[in-house]
Amino acid sequence: MSVIANILETVGRTPLLTSPNSNQADEGQLLFKYERYNPGGSIKDRAALYIVEEAERRGWLKPGGTIIESSSGNFGISLAMIGAAKGYRVVILVDPKTTSANLALLKGFGAEVIVVTEQDDSGSYHKTRISLANRLAREIENSYRPDQCFNLLNSEAHFRTTAREIVEACSGRLDAFVTAVSTGGQLGGISRYLKIYAPEAQVVGVDAVGSAIFGGEAEAYRIPGIGLGWTPDNLDVNDVDSVYKVPDESAFLAARAFARNEGILMGPSSGACALVALKIAQELKPGQRVVCMVSDGGDRYVQTLFNDEWMESQGFAVHADVAAIREAARRLRPLGGKPVGNYKPELVRQLDVPESTLRLNAELRDAALGLGTAVPE
Ligand SMILES: Cc1ncc(COP(=O)(O)O)c(C=O)c1O
Repeated sequence: MSVIANILETVGRTPLLTSPNSNQADEGQLLFKYERYNPGGSIKDRAALYIVEEAERRGWLKPGGTIIESSSGNFGISLAMIGAAKGYRVVILVDPKTTSANLALLKGFGAEVIVVTEQDDSGSYHKTRISLANRLAREIENSYRPDQCFNLLNSEAHFRTTAREIVEACSGRLDAFVTAVSTGGQLGGISRYLKIYAPEAQVVGVDAVGSAIFGGEAEAYRIPGIGLGWTPDNLDVNDVDSVYKVPDESAFLAARAFARNEGILMGPSSGACALVALKIAQELKPGQRVVCMVSDGGDRYVQTLFNDEWMESQGFAVHADVAAIREAARRLRPLGGKPVGNYKPELVRQLDVPESTLRLNAELRDAALGLGTAVPE
C-alpha cells in the first residue's frame, strides 16, 4: 500500500461494477461506473478539480481567494472539499431542493452556504441561483466563479478523464452508454469522446419528466441533480442518439431496488439512469454491454430516498422488487425522433455570465482544445 500525499489525488479512476441479480444472462451486460468512490462522493469531483486547477494555472484563482458557485449539492460539495484541501474560502448557493445531508456536508467541509428561495420563470431555482452567484463574484474581491453551467471545461473534464476510463475499461468494446443530464458536463464530454473513440456505441441521455433540456415546458419535479429549463452549452445534442424522460417515482423506486438487490447504493438520478440502462440491456444481446453512470451514492439521500415516510409523503410506493423494476424498464419509451435542443443563447447576457468564462469558452472553441477533435494524451 502506498501513501497518498493529498486527498485530491484520489479523484477519478472509479470502478465498473456488474449487476448480476437484476441483469439476466440472455441480455446485454449492464455495468455501473461507480462515481461514489470519488473522495467528495460524486462524479462532480472530476469537473470541479479540473476547473479549479485550470483557474490556478491561469492566475484567476490565487492563494487566499474565494470560490463562488451555484449548485444543487454535488458540485458544491466537491468544491467545498477541494477548497478545504487547497485552502480557499468557498461560498455555495443552493436551493430548497438540496437535502439536509448535502447541506451538512457542505458545512462540514467549511463552505458558506446561501439558500436561494426565489424561483425562476420555469419554477426552478437555476436562473436565480446563477445570477446571484454572478453578482456575488463581481462584488467579492479575489473571487473565482467556476460556473459549471456555462464553463465548457466542465465537459472537457469528462472528455479527458471519465470517458477515457470507460472506453479503456471496456477495451474499446462498448455498445451503449447512459447518463443523466443537468449542466451537460458528463453527457456532453462523454458523448463527444464516444463519437470519436467508440462510434458504434449508442449514446443515451436521461432527463426528468418536467425538465426542458430536450424541449417542452418546464414543470416541477423531485429528482435532485438532473434537468434544466434549457439545453446547456456543454451538451451538443447531435452527439446524443436517444433520450428517455423518467418520472420521479420510477427513479426513486429503481434506486431503492438496486440497493436491495445488488448492494449498490445510488441516488435518484442514478436510479433513473439504471432503469433506462436496464431497458437497453434487455434490448442488447449477450456479449454486448451498456455502461450506466452512477453519479453519486444513496447515502446522500437517507432522509428522502431511503426514508419510507418521505416516500409516502410524495405519494410514491416504497418498494419494488426485481421483477417490477425489470417490467418498469421494459415499458420505458424514448422520446420520438432525433433529440432536439432547446438552446437559449440570450441567457449568457440575461444571467450575466462572467467575461472570463466567455473568453475561455471562445478560446476552447477556437483552439479545439480537445473539444471533440484533439486526442487526449
Ligand atoms: C446526482 C447527479 N446526477 C446527475 C447530474 C448531472 O450531471 P451534469 O451536470 O454533468 O449534466 C448531477 C449534476 O448535478 C448530479 O448531481
